[in-house]
Amino acid sequence: MIVLGIETSCDETAAAVVEDGKKVRSSVVSSQVDIHRKFGGVVPELASRAHLDLLCPVIEESFHRAGLSILDIDGIAVTAGPGLVGALLVGTSTAKAICFSLKKPLIAINHIEAHLYANFIDEEPVLPAIGLIVSGGHTDMVYVSGINEYKVLGRTRDDAVGEAFDKVAKMLGLGYPGGPAIERAAQKGDAGKITFPRPYLPGSFDFSFSGLKTAVLYHIKKHGCKDVEDIAAGFQAAVVDVLVRKVLMAAEDEGVGSILLGGGVARNTVLRKALEEGAFKTGIGFFCPPPALCTDNAVMIAGLGFVKLERGERSSLSLNVCSNWVLGSPLPPLIRGEQGGMGGCRVERDSC
Ligand code: KG4
Ligand code: ZN
Repeated sequence: MIVLGIETSCDETAAAVVEDGKKVRSSVVSSQVDIHRKFGGVVPELASRAHLDLLCPVIEESFHRAGLSILDIDGIAVTAGPGLVGALLVGTSTAKAICFSLKKPLIAINHIEAHLYANFIDEEPVLPAIGLIVSGGHTDMVYVSGINEYKVLGRTRDDAVGEAFDKVAKMLGLGYPGGPAIERAAQKGDAGKITFPRPYLPGSFDFSFSGLKTAVLYHIKKHGCKDVEDIAAGFQAAVVDVLVRKVLMAAEDEGVGSILLGGGVARNTVLRKALEEGAFKTGIGFFCPPPALCTDNAVMIAGLGFVKLERGERSSLSLNVCSNWVLGSPLPPLIRGEQGGMGGCRVERDSC
């Protein structure tokens, strides 16, 4: 089965052609980083406009690289949430139009679930597992008993991990996106020189990173920004300690066979190494997608789409987008309001 995946939830316009959920025929990712860099973060309206300009050429390029035509597809998988409403609407509207004209099935994909699924593309992870999804918009810890079978154990109460990396990088003048910049600076710093607080939130699998971010801000206010590399290393060490300790605790509590990591922050080599070592010591497996499948991409969307389409799942051409679609819950249906059911607008007002 050939599935076209489309991903436009934030600032990457991506399309991929994947065969039977695992064989990647092509993957095209067009990053909007240069557009948003001067604002120090993603500007939603600019992201939507850039997706509009880029999505059709990106899809065409994905077929060109796959050596296939759009007529060869058996279905389309598209991210319908969570993410920026305007950006999601560009992807879903395009997917609907192609499915309608070619009479092909459509499947809506939850972006967080797809980050988790990225672990199943090259590997067969041992289940049940603890999944940790750490990205610019999300920090979720879930119990995974199968693809489609999740129980959310905890999530961030404030900033997502990637968001904290991006904000601290901004404070340190390291530019955007902040995660890779912090990691590079930290390599030259001493993680033991400045100790930042570890927000463990005992008794809960939730996370909280805004206090840590504020601690970095106070440190800069008091001591200035002269030890950028040590600050970056100290901040990164605090984040990694919290994530690793909580994931290992959950793994032990739930008696799982492995740990699955996913999302953009999973590219961080210090985090990957610490989790891998922790899992090894605990005697369980550790899985993490290759770096290109950690950050936003459409391979994970097409791959998960294949699994769902093969199970007979289908989405309606009137599907909604949902800016805060919760992992494990169904995509809320389009609500026909007084204004004729404007999916995205309605969703934002009702916050799903
Ligand atoms: O998954 P992703 O591409 O987009 C969202 O779904 O949000 O994640 C992007 C996030 C950004 O916050 C970026 O700073 C972070 O992932 N990131 C990293 C690294 N590479 C990307 N954070 C820490 N270390 C990295 N090497
Ligand atoms: Zn993502």
